Amino acid sequence: MESAQTVERRFACDDGELAPGESMTVPPGGGAKIAVAVYRNDEGTYFATADTCTHEDWSLGEDSDLEGNEVVCPLHMARFDIRTGVALCFPATVALATFEVVVDDGKVYVLG
Ligand code: FES
Repeated sequence: MESAQTVERRFACDDGELAPGESMTVPPGGGAKIAVAVYRNDEGTYFATADTCTHEDWSLGEDSDLEGNEVVCPLHMARFDIRTGVALCFPATVALATFEVVVDDGKVYVLG
């Protein structure tokens, strides 16, 4: 017998609340154990990664610089691709986990 797997939807914000080039943090809650950073790139597309920089303990959703599809951690200037989570330069060498984002009825959700 197959078991149905449910993917949790975490509310992030209303669509448009986050301006292009901005980011925010969605705290853990429900079944989700880690905080997620939600970004909106210059084209208005949303992406989401784990909130904590993989180099040290820094919230990318709360304080980072978004340059196109790259997020720059201001603590030691590591860069990550927000589409894939890949670490693009030292001192970070480990990718950020990524999450799917959906916009439904004017609301932005992170899946998982
Ligand atoms: S904590 Fe992000 S680069 Fe060091």
